[in-house]
Amino acid sequence: MPVPFLDLKAHHMPLRAEFLEAVAQVIDSGAFASGPFVAAFEKDFAEFCGAPFAIGVGSGTDALWLVLLALGIGPGDEVVTVSSTFMATAEAITYTGARPVFVDIDETTYTMDPALLERAITPRTKAIIPVHLFGQTADMDPILEVASRHGLPVVEDACQAHGAEYKGRKAGTIGIAGCFSFYPGKNLGAFGEAGAVVTANEELKQKILALRDHGQHRKYYHSMIGWNARMDGIQGAILRVKLKHLGRNNELRRRHAAAYNQALDGVDGVITPREASYGKHVYHLYAVRVRDRDRIMAELGKRGVNCGIHYPVPVHLQEAYRELGYKRGSLPVTERCADEFLSLPMFPELTTEQIETVVRELKACIR
Ligand SMILES: Cc1ncc(COP(=O)(O)O)c(C=O)c1O
Repeated sequence: MPVPFLDLKAHHMPLRAEFLEAVAQVIDSGAFASGPFVAAFEKDFAEFCGAPFAIGVGSGTDALWLVLLALGIGPGDEVVTVSSTFMATAEAITYTGARPVFVDIDETTYTMDPALLERAITPRTKAIIPVHLFGQTADMDPILEVASRHGLPVVEDACQAHGAEYKGRKAGTIGIAGCFSFYPGKNLGAFGEAGAVVTANEELKQKILALRDHGQHRKYYHSMIGWNARMDGIQGAILRVKLKHLGRNNELRRRHAAAYNQALDGVDGVITPREASYGKHVYHLYAVRVRDRDRIMAELGKRGVNCGIHYPVPVHLQEAYRELGYKRGSLPVTERCADEFLSLPMFPELTTEQIETVVRELKACIR
């Protein structure tokens, strides 16, 4: 039996009746754009994160962009982030008019290397965005320490880290704001596009509430230029149902990761992911590192094991960012990891047999 990379059907089937009931309630109420279902989810998600406020928006990209706009970031500014991330982290910076500046990652956590942060800061730097890649938070304390010395806000890209923890605190609640994506394949995924900002900062919250809704402070009274970045009522209703299961699903992911680690640790040619001592990894992705990755992935595919690559080309080497002037060699750890990352099947419903199949076939493909 082939092993899928992700099985959303298996994930959704047990809750099908509850989803249909939630959608029926939205249809009956007519609250399709923002409204009470989004507000109820915002309350629940803030509580889950241990944050005073959550603001539902259209996507994780919107969440990042609106936070940067609300912080007043724009043309001429620089925002320091990592290149080992999904393109959206950098795009959000570019869409404010600012320039993304990339620092290399730590080779064990695959997140921003705090030791390299300070040298990337210039008088134009206006914010820092660490990315909690694959479900593991960046090492926030040394990042916050550098940031506070330079008076810079830290915005967490927690789009892959719903429920992950750093020293007992949930991802997204450590910097001035945390940005989440509810893209369907995420640990908490909507039935379409959605995202959220989590913050304890009242002023930031008010600005983002206005920015997501055309800069309105009252219906048809616009105090600033905003955008349409509202969350759909149906997404709020669905996410509220799914949020109740996020804690257990994260535990299942952790169990599957432990099973993979146990079977793959010590296998020559495979580097398994490490959970940092400072936190709790929620394994949005379970990425190993292998040499000759493309061949191995193709062979696994032929053997019915479907894998992913996150991401084959780091952001600083993307064609779209050619004008930033980065070259191969600019960020050696990021580049090496991008060549070697191979994301194995990972989702809560993964069975022991499926994990055994993946391990057996991976071992057979390593030469
Ligand atoms: C690290 C990271 N940042 C930002 C985003 C953007 O989120 P969205 O796809 O919801 O716009 C994603 C989602 O794929 C992501 O993984």
